[in-house]
Amino acid sequence: QIGPVSDLVISNEVISPDGFSRSAVLAGKTFPGPVIRGKKGDRFQLNVINSLKDDTMERGTTIHWHGIFQRGTSWADGAASVTQCPITPDNSFLYEFSVPEQAGTFWYHSHLSTQYCDGLRGAFIVDDPLDPHKSLYDVDDESTIITLADWWHETAHKVFEGALLASATLINGKGRYTGGPPVSLSVINVKHSLRYRFRIIAMACETAFTFAIDGHTLTVIEADGENTDPLVVDSLEIFAGQRYSVIMTANRPVGNYWIRANPDARGYPGFDGGRNLAILRYAGAPVAEPKTTFVSKSPLKEVDLHAANDPSAPGNPWPGGADVNLNLAHTFDVQKSEYQINGYAFHPPTAPVLLQILSGAQRAEDLLPQGSVYFLPPNKVIEISLPGTSVRLGGPHPFHLHGHSFSVVRSGDSTEYNFLDPVRRDTVNTGLEGGNATIRFVTDNAGPWFLHCHVDWHLELGLAVVFAEDIPSISKTKPPQSWNDLCPKYDNFLSNRK
Ligand code: C2O
Repeated sequence: QIGPVSDLVISNEVISPDGFSRSAVLAGKTFPGPVIRGKKGDRFQLNVINSLKDDTMERGTTIHWHGIFQRGTSWADGAASVTQCPITPDNSFLYEFSVPEQAGTFWYHSHLSTQYCDGLRGAFIVDDPLDPHKSLYDVDDESTIITLADWWHETAHKVFEGALLASATLINGKGRYTGGPPVSLSVINVKHSLRYRFRIIAMACETAFTFAIDGHTLTVIEADGENTDPLVVDSLEIFAGQRYSVIMTANRPVGNYWIRANPDARGYPGFDGGRNLAILRYAGAPVAEPKTTFVSKSPLKEVDLHAANDPSAPGNPWPGGADVNLNLAHTFDVQKSEYQINGYAFHPPTAPVLLQILSGAQRAEDLLPQGSVYFLPPNKVIEISLPGTSVRLGGPHPFHLHGHSFSVVRSGDSTEYNFLDPVRRDTVNTGLEGGNATIRFVTDNAGPWFLHCHVDWHLELGLAVVFAEDIPSISKTKPPQSWNDLCPKYDNFLSNRK
């Protein structure tokens, strides 16, 4: 665990989290990377040092602090081709930003091509000294973070070209694969009668998981850094990029219980041989694998989640009742092998969108990539409809918006609208055909913000747009000189490489 003022060294290391050795791209030499932990109001100064050497994977890097608003510091958002050029090998870059208004469960990951699939992912926790849910739990420390990740035995470039299925699910960096050795699984230790706040983070490249702890109910209190009214469930589906905090009371007989992360789709193997499992172990229980079973009776439905204190969605309480109403329909073009949103695939521009604006581009139509940049006026209510697609087209897609959280006025899996007290979050499952996830937010944060599918292969295939929010204010932002140096250095790196 590291604090808000820290170095983060990015390097290639050979690891075998599931018993299979491969070279990976890691932060702090571990998978997942070190937990970054601070508190609400902190100023974070994270110095990212690029020591990457392995040419079979990306050697540039950027880091995105997923869910952090970056108010006034869009240059520190870490999205390659949108807010910065990559950091070159043997170079470093200081990300400096404050977190004055947010608390909860976030994460960080590379935002260059599909690099985070090669390992660069970690938890980012912001504690709230005035947490309104504090009286509901006794323990919330490093031991209560549960990260779910999909893992491959090939580099992300090869996985992408070959559309390879994940080999293993890593829970807190440990897991097993089909035909692999029975390596030890992650253990979460608890003491009887205590109430735990577990922070579940889906740092997946692709996979959605159904998460459960045998024999225990989970009370959801947070979704993606936004507090919710407490909601009791026995399992929850969590998509790539999403997070939940749940409260679990250790009130069952002392023993071992399975923690399950069942990959939802695409024929990934289930729980045989200890796959997709970790262990909840009570103090006093034998060191043994559990024998518990589980059938879900009350899974989480997003539509049942309500923002804490029930704030209503901004804008008028009917579909299309915002100041700006956008329908972003996605399709797949088989010929070009790319996803398109309203007819355009996102092809990363060489000059990041932020640099284009700072260099004088003032109108959305002057910004590259053409057709993928939308201008949003300041201080307006925006409604975005994201119609779902079929499983064949890779749905349901989890869409993540940078720079904001939003009210989910219609869930991807529901036909109802809720303008009264919808959950707020930053990554939403758009559901399947016939679904229409609909979100609202207010443009109170100038910046070029990515909206994209968090299945990293889909982002690479163009499933993204950029919102240029309040261009006049963006053009007044002043990134540090080190930011201005990134693009020339990266251009140099690329041309020396040829
Ligand atoms: Cu978690 Cu655009 O990122």
